[in-house]
Amino acid sequence: MSLPRRSFLRHAALGAAGLGLAREAVAALPEFAADRPEPFWEAVRALYPLEPGFSYFNTGGLGSTPTPVLERVAEVTRRLQAKAEHGHAQFTAARADVARFLGADSAEVAFVRNATEANATVAAGLPLRAGDEVIFETHAHPGGAFPWLQAARARGVVVRTFEPDARSAAVNLARLTALVGPRTRVVQLSHITAPTGITLPARAVADLCRSRGIWFHLDAAQSAGMVPVDFTALGCDSLAVSGHKWIGGPLETGVLCVRRARQEELEPPLVGAHSGDLDPTGRFALSPGALRYEYGTRNVAAALGLAEAMRLQERIGRDRIAARGRQLAARAHAGLAALPGVEVLSPDAPDLRAAMVTFRTARIPHDRLFGLLLREKSIRARPVTEEKLNALRVSTHLCNSPAQVDALVAAVGEFLRREA
Ligand SMILES: Cc1ncc(COP(=O)(O)O)c(C=O)c1O
Repeated sequence: MSLPRRSFLRHAALGAAGLGLAREAVAALPEFAADRPEPFWEAVRALYPLEPGFSYFNTGGLGSTPTPVLERVAEVTRRLQAKAEHGHAQFTAARADVARFLGADSAEVAFVRNATEANATVAAGLPLRAGDEVIFETHAHPGGAFPWLQAARARGVVVRTFEPDARSAAVNLARLTALVGPRTRVVQLSHITAPTGITLPARAVADLCRSRGIWFHLDAAQSAGMVPVDFTALGCDSLAVSGHKWIGGPLETGVLCVRRARQEELEPPLVGAHSGDLDPTGRFALSPGALRYEYGTRNVAAALGLAEAMRLQERIGRDRIAARGRQLAARAHAGLAALPGVEVLSPDAPDLRAAMVTFRTARIPHDRLFGLLLREKSIRARPVTEEKLNALRVSTHLCNSPAQVDALVAAVGEFLRREA
């Protein structure tokens, strides 16, 4: 046997063994017992490649990718590279999995690189004229706001923003409604806002937009994978999803969903192979469905990895994941709020809360506190400079435990006593 062939077989065997081990670990997850849940969650946490002793609280920035997902990507990549194939046909299977997970039809799902690309496709592709208006919240992430600021700069689209309230969904709906006028063409919302984790009233806004013929785009970068997100039930026209945050998909994965009935209104800003084809007369026509928003050679291993991450969440239980994240966040919220001199900026109201807690203290600058937590306690939070909040954000997800949350609260208390 030639050397290259032998080495290929060794690599293939290693890949298969790795995948087998990760699959075994998933298959061996213990039964969930509501009265004694920690053994289940410890087994889930063991699926992550995170270093022991490291508390990772930045899923809202970038999710840790579970080992079975990493191994699926490696296995598909190795298999395809054995013959240098792109494997594009396998997008069909991945698309069906993603559609099921997001409550969409396969023809409504386009694979993009991140939530920003999904948002930017909508901002660049809707036929807006100078003076047409878009509404979104002041807390929108740059990946949500900048595509519209560029539409304002280049095409004269008018941006109107409202300040999200951390106490009441009705107030948020009223603030948004007050901005709706005869030139409003688009409303975009973060389903859950990035700086402080406010859940915005997506379904009520969808109803408002439908009744007025306004395009409603929902940015689910912070919600998909944190809570169950159902595109059809939410009633939006388009949805942006980040694969590499709460879902735990591979880096540089994202999804754009566009409602079938409105796809003709959203032009793909970039096209190429797969976006369309030439008819017998040589005329270019777009592909049916959301495939029109994809173009060129893509990484099918990443798409299959994203589908694997979604299946893993389904196996663990999507409602269970949402409840766990909220419980850990509630624990962090209560513990931090009880520390003298700490202000929690995230919502208290149950219908607005998410698996994120943003807090600050006037006694220690937020960037100093961030560094202290990381260097001295191996606790990774996320600085929040948006809207000059100068705070720290803690995301609580599957890779976190009550003990980690307690250690975070204890560490902040210790630094407050030491530094102030
Ligand atoms: C609400 C929101 N939208 C968009 C993004 C950008 O996400 P991506 O990195 O997938 O482009 C983020 C990232 O934190 C976000 O929080």
